[in-house]
Amino acid sequence: MIELNYRNITKEVIGEENGLDLSKEFKDYKDTIKKIITDLNSNKDKPGQNLQWMNSGYNEETIWYVKEYAAMVENRFDNILILGMGGSALGGKALCEAILPPYWNYLTKEQRNNYPRIFFLDNIDPDQMNALLSILDLKKTLVNVITKSGSTAEVMAQYMILKDKMEKELGDDYRKNVIATTDKNIGILKQLSDQEGYKTFYIPDDIGGRFSVFSAVGLLPFALVGIDIEEITQGVKDMDLELKNTNIESNIAAQNALIHFLMDVKKGKKISVMMPYSNRLRYIADWYCQLWAESLGKEKDKNNNTVNTGQTPVKAIGVTDQHSQIQLYNEGPNDKIINFLRIKEFDTKLEIPNIFEYTGISYLCGKSINQLFNAEADSTMASLIDYKRPNVTITIPKISAYYLGQLLYMFEVQTAITGALYNIDPFDQPGVEQSKNYTYALMGRIGYEDSANELKEKLLTEINI
Ligand code: PA5
Repeated sequence: MIELNYRNITKEVIGEENGLDLSKEFKDYKDTIKKIITDLNSNKDKPGQNLQWMNSGYNEETIWYVKEYAAMVENRFDNILILGMGGSALGGKALCEAILPPYWNYLTKEQRNNYPRIFFLDNIDPDQMNALLSILDLKKTLVNVITKSGSTAEVMAQYMILKDKMEKELGDDYRKNVIATTDKNIGILKQLSDQEGYKTFYIPDDIGGRFSVFSAVGLLPFALVGIDIEEITQGVKDMDLELKNTNIESNIAAQNALIHFLMDVKKGKKISVMMPYSNRLRYIADWYCQLWAESLGKEKDKNNNTVNTGQTPVKAIGVTDQHSQIQLYNEGPNDKIINFLRIKEFDTKLEIPNIFEYTGISYLCGKSINQLFNAEADSTMASLIDYKRPNVTITIPKISAYYLGQLLYMFEVQTAITGALYNIDPFDQPGVEQSKNYTYALMGRIGYEDSANELKEKLLTEINI
């Protein structure tokens, strides 16, 4: 299983001012945590609780349909193109980047075991889109349009550009190159896919975007590029069993949730840094940033009090950011908790050849890059302790579908527990909806005329556009 080491947030290691008296806190919060975990598990099947993601590991039917479709289209496509925003793309991108061999899209077809390349278009930068469209052979490209609401402006605009281009190039047959992943009842994408006859996968009710990576949103792209989705869901299930434990002493999601909550409210650590010592896990840090920010950044609590909760999540990559952000983390404001994400065993061991005798570099000769990587992580942690900066270390035995299933599910549960500690709803996103609605208004969507006029006024007078 993955492990959490929280020694470096204790007062014994970093002192009273910044560190927690953790044995006391675990004792004080024992019953609260027990109640939160019990409630999460007993409410997970209740409609409207947005907890269906807690059943994702057990969704045999989705796994079956996804595998069946992936087997049916095996060898038919050279490229998979995912259209999606935020939670509809980030989990897929994070796990593909982590689990597939590095530089997957640059490998030959044989090196990819005949599986396709995969592209995630999670932005609408016109230059980027145009460049991507110019390198993809659309006849050999399977486009997966993913939107839970079925109407997000960016995704629908991407889809329309693709549909038009594909129809021109492929004629009516273009439909075989499109799959929709969306809600089964609501949204324009659902209507369009019924009308056009696209193969469609449904996102179960009560799973929000950022908690959807283990539904068809993530599982379908994974299966299409040959990732063993049952290995992922086995990891999710095994972690779920561990995290059903209501005792904080042995539940790592509850421990990290409480640590982050207390670091924020008692010690003023308003920033949560996710720092994987693995380039393959860099998008996991992006995924975590979305999960932490969008779930916990809330204006109102459940009793409608104004609370403005949430830590600001920041991505950092070891060792790259040792040469940029660590200066700030060590000597700047002591307002952060750093999450190191470490891998026990890399797939590769890379030796540094014994080729120089210069005193300044000969110490490296005969060692491995792995040793250097680990020494850098250890020394960064040691320097943070010197400066009394709180940090935890999450260790995964190796990068695999199984352990990453565990890891992402652990973060989801940690987020849900932290939301309960803040007494906010971690599953809504009124702030995101607000800017989505303003976009609809500015782009002239029917029904948004009043806010369009109001907004134009505001932009002209306040922002002077
Ligand atoms: O986590 C969320 O809810 C958001 O990030 C959504 O995933 C994002 O806004 C895209 O929404 P949709 O899937 O409805 O297009």
